[in-house]
Amino acid sequence: MDHQGVVAELEVPHVLIFSFAAQGHVNPMLKLAELICLAGIHVTFVVTEHTQRRLLRNSNVQSRFDRYPGFHFEPISDGLPEDDPRSGQKVMDFFHAFGATAKPLLREMLVSHRRRLNGKKPVTCVIADGFLSFAIDVAEELGIPAISFRTSSTCNFWAYLCVDKLVAAGELPFDENNLDAPITSIPGMEHFLRCRDLPSFFRIKDVADRDFQLILKETLHSTRAQAQIFNTFEELEGPILSQTRSQCPKIYTIGPLHDHLKIRLNGTTIQTSSTSLWKEDTSCMKWLDAQPFRSVIYVSFGSLTMVTKDKLIEFWYGLVNSGKRFLWVIRPDSVTSEVREGQISPELVEGIKERGYMVGWAPQEEVLAHQAIGGFITHSGWNSTLESIVSRVPMICLPSFGDQQINSRYVEEIWNLGLDMKDTWDRLIIEKMVKDLMDVRREEFMKSINQMAKFAKKAVSEGGLSYCNLDRLIEDIKLMSI
Ligand code: UDX
Repeated sequence: MDHQGVVAELEVPHVLIFSFAAQGHVNPMLKLAELICLAGIHVTFVVTEHTQRRLLRNSNVQSRFDRYPGFHFEPISDGLPEDDPRSGQKVMDFFHAFGATAKPLLREMLVSHRRRLNGKKPVTCVIADGFLSFAIDVAEELGIPAISFRTSSTCNFWAYLCVDKLVAAGELPFDENNLDAPITSIPGMEHFLRCRDLPSFFRIKDVADRDFQLILKETLHSTRAQAQIFNTFEELEGPILSQTRSQCPKIYTIGPLHDHLKIRLNGTTIQTSSTSLWKEDTSCMKWLDAQPFRSVIYVSFGSLTMVTKDKLIEFWYGLVNSGKRFLWVIRPDSVTSEVREGQISPELVEGIKERGYMVGWAPQEEVLAHQAIGGFITHSGWNSTLESIVSRVPMICLPSFGDQQINSRYVEEIWNLGLDMKDTWDRLIIEKMVKDLMDVRREEFMKSINQMAKFAKKAVSEGGLSYCNLDRLIEDIKLMSI
């Protein structure tokens, strides 16, 4: 590069994106990173060393980002020994400890970027995962503008912002034996929320509960950022976005991000690619090719959910007894104890062989877009919910933790995109819901999901709100670097 080229590169804005170390965070944050790269802005993507290694081992993300010379990964230590499993139920312990380890390292990283003139402008904007609010403090300390990125739904975020109201109304803590009691003190959700639909961390005996306090603190603290990015679109969460704007006036809704990226890449030869932390078993695509149109129900509980052996077997019975074909992802680390031979009856094993296919990890976006898929049994993670909407696949929700409880209430009660099975692991209910989703109430759900998918497409297409908001975000990032 000649001297002028070097000087020009030093003028390019530089964003540091800091992602929490979990699949449901890394996926949308890498999509955002790519969208920012497409606008010609330099990006440093920070995630824990361990996660980065898994990502580079199991996906083709490195070769994909090689196309963007201004992009690079920068690992950060999580302070744990290499052989620590860091998965499943350990995620909360990890979360509690991570800030103390990572905060000084991030500060050092940002300072060293200032010293080390590696052909790039020092970081001009930090985009921090909404779970990592300490990154906002570090940025503030160093005079760098910071934006918070929420990977979960706005309705979940809003519930946390209303904790004071819940406590004042005597609705938190609530009686765990009366989970159907109504919740009336969250503006915009007065008429349909029950205790069981609140984010799972609200199921506490005391508001001093350690995990509840941590997530509450993270959520409230992240509102100190200059702006919030949400992976959502206005037609989906409009009323709650209006409520949220009363406390966070600057919000960029730019989702559904996975589809937004596809649209922005249209016209280039670049295809979207996997960002999986597990090796994808693509053999299921061949199996799907051989199945009739919309005949298969896809089952996946995301990247963190753990299921006990007993629940798994109950679920198995319900699914097989429904008589439907299914593709089921069972992550190797997702069952809390071994399922022993003899616990599953021979008819069940036959049913699985005849009509089912199982993998440890699937290329989910591709699976949902396949013509053979007619329904999705999901844990209601926010990415899975958005991916299902875009692919027009109605859902049965079996939420496990976090935002999933409130997402699933919206899926059934507000958007009419499927059925909410929360807190139920009963084979008869599972069987009935699968039949309802795939046959009895199919038309009704297809009508709503087709409509919502159209809104999603419009939002990320040229002139749509998510599209315009991303342009606005890019412009604002450029202004921050002047
Ligand atoms: C969790 C929360 O539940 C979620 O709401 C929050 O926003 C992020 O953390 P996770 O449990 O992993 O995330 O669920 P989800 O948000 O649905 O993300 C899972 C991602 O993994 C999706 O993008 C999905 O496409 C992908 N996936 C899942 C695969 O690629 N293959 C699989 O087999 C399963």
